[in-house]
Amino acid sequence: MENKIMINESVYWIGKVDDRDVPFHRLTLTKGTTYNSYLLMTEKPTIIDTVDISFGREFVENLKSLIDLDKIQYIVINHTEPDHSGGLGAIAARAKNAVIVCTEPAVDELKEMYKLHKREFLVVKDGDTLDIGGKTLKFIETPYLHTEETMVTYCEEDKILFPCDIFSTHVANYEYFNDLAKGNITEDFTAYYTLIMHPHRKYVQNMIEKIKDLDIDMIAPSHGFIIRKDVEKFIEIYNKMSKNTDKGKKAVIVYSTMGGNTRKVASMLQEGFENSDINVEIMNVNKISKEEILEGIKGADAVLFGSSTRYGDMIGNLEEILNELQNMNLEEKLAAAFGSYGWSGEAIEVVQDYLNKTNMKVLNTSEIIKSTGMTDVEFPLRVRFSPKDEDIKNIEKAVTFTVELLLNAG
Ligand code: FEO
Repeated sequence: MENKIMINESVYWIGKVDDRDVPFHRLTLTKGTTYNSYLLMTEKPTIIDTVDISFGREFVENLKSLIDLDKIQYIVINHTEPDHSGGLGAIAARAKNAVIVCTEPAVDELKEMYKLHKREFLVVKDGDTLDIGGKTLKFIETPYLHTEETMVTYCEEDKILFPCDIFSTHVANYEYFNDLAKGNITEDFTAYYTLIMHPHRKYVQNMIEKIKDLDIDMIAPSHGFIIRKDVEKFIEIYNKMSKNTDKGKKAVIVYSTMGGNTRKVASMLQEGFENSDINVEIMNVNKISKEEILEGIKGADAVLFGSSTRYGDMIGNLEEILNELQNMNLEEKLAAAFGSYGWSGEAIEVVQDYLNKTNMKVLNTSEIIKSTGMTDVEFPLRVRFSPKDEDIKNIEKAVTFTVELLLNAG
């Protein structure tokens, strides 16, 4: 049986090798993948992540041959996507004493996804530890790698990092460990990074900073090969590939503000671009000449237009600028609308309508969902009154997404 693989003297691999053509984020994984789950056989037996939802029942059946399910004390869910949490419904129903361990943003998702409203959860935060009877787990939050609720788990005694999606490869294989792989896995490892992690590279750097002082002998991810040889080399691949690769791109932010809140949003966007080493110019349409603004737009790779709303429309001279754009060749440039509003924020939608009449690539949420599967990037960017915590997150995500498009445009 494929699920009796031991990765050290007390940790079992209890996953599933999926050697089909696997549909994944509108792509097909022609090499298949694996869903790696782990059982830490301690005094308080603990499972780390599960398998794809298609294999939940099989997962539980296999696990029964290793352990009395009533003895399982914890189920750690590093990431809620159903290729890893998919077995949770099945195992939680049988392992009735197990407490589910996850981050705060994961709780409601898991409760809804697997009807676990009455189940006991242990919510962990960055740096928290958990004694599982002979071993200590440390939890490190890694938000947006690649979804908000993600964390990684580190076993201090075994020096194993369980990073779920991070440091994975999409290759169905029965060798399990990178040193036993039939070929060099670096190409598959970097291809996975590029596909899944690179759009979130700012957060990859945060993660690298958080794990840099851990003593890691083995990385046990949730797809593909377990890395027990050249661990540092594979971490360094992520480090290098996620470092800024400024290609001299430029963003221009053009705005008109009534009470100052749209200016605040514009300034936050500016700061985000600056932090990403993108050249950025910010222009208040009421203080800079139309000619100067149009010159700025011509030289930009991305242009963001913001307006407050008054009487259901834009304010200031912004409309005059937007009218000019329809007669200009702005192909290849990215464009987006944003603004702060108090009631319904019509101006933001009007700006978007104007942009849609140009030949720029106008960012909008619907297209982003359809083309990338990302549901947490909001365009046009709407902020009610002064930006609050949730708005600030949205602004950061909008900048990160735009920067990635700019850098990947070559
Ligand atoms: Fe492998 Fe984000 O799931």
